Amino acid sequence: MQIIIYDNAQQVAHNAALWVKELINKKPDPVLGLATGSTPISLYKQLVEQHKTNQISFKNVTTFNLDEYHHIAPENPQSYRSFMAENLFNHVDIDLKNTYLPTCATGQNPREQGLAYEDKIKKQGGVDLQILGIGANGHIGFNEPTSSLSSRTRIKTLTQQTITDNSRLFRPDEEQPTMAMTMGIATIMDARYVLLMATGANKANAVKDMITGGVSVMCPASALQMHENAIVLLDKAAASELSDHSYYQWANNENSKLIEDYGYFHNY
Ligand code: F6R
Repeated sequence: MQIIIYDNAQQVAHNAALWVKELINKKPDPVLGLATGSTPISLYKQLVEQHKTNQISFKNVTTFNLDEYHHIAPENPQSYRSFMAENLFNHVDIDLKNTYLPTCATGQNPREQGLAYEDKIKKQGGVDLQILGIGANGHIGFNEPTSSLSSRTRIKTLTQQTITDNSRLFRPDEEQPTMAMTMGIATIMDARYVLLMATGANKANAVKDMITGGVSVMCPASALQMHENAIVLLDKAAASELSDHSYYQWANNENSKLIEDYGYFHNY
């Protein structure tokens, strides 16, 4: 794992955007894995800005989102399709035909939908760079604690903690879904690179478990310890429970020197 600690959330977003820009400008047919939630919103703002200033085009980009609520209509303002439209898709030149979410509408079989999503990702050549947030309980996607580390796209029942954490996004008169389709942990692990962003003190314990705890289903994000190319971008608050700050800082300075000498070596 490469752990990079920044002073604030804005710097996390800025640097995450540089990763995305590098992929998009390097690969003719990039496949980007996307997340929703509060954390990546500022990343998407940066990407929109890069697009407006002609630094990147999404014309040839294909996207796969991590998750989508069960039985939610795409036009529902609470759907992750709407979230992506509002925060990214409506503001860039992406072809909506190339944007996928693991949907399961009323009457559709979640098992079949999950398999079909896996199939679509495979046919597209796999995800090059998967953006991730982390839940306060260590979830990635909606892989809640006790999710199998070998799981694939499927339906999951959300934990009470996740429902409570996300309730801030729903008005009292809106029904909050309790189930979602999500990429599995094995699906996420298949991505060539994963870029996890965590900001804020409420993520500090989960971040600590992910990085320094044992690999455990009780902290699904800890599976990333087994990923060949996992990059974790933190602000100081999210990193506040880690004890090895100075080592991470030093390792990143050394890595920057290597990058100056040899350039980036991302094998997309
Ligand atoms: C969203 C997702 C979730 C979030 C996580 C953190 O697509 O898969 O795992 O990344 O719940 O959410 P925020 O960023 O709102 O704290």
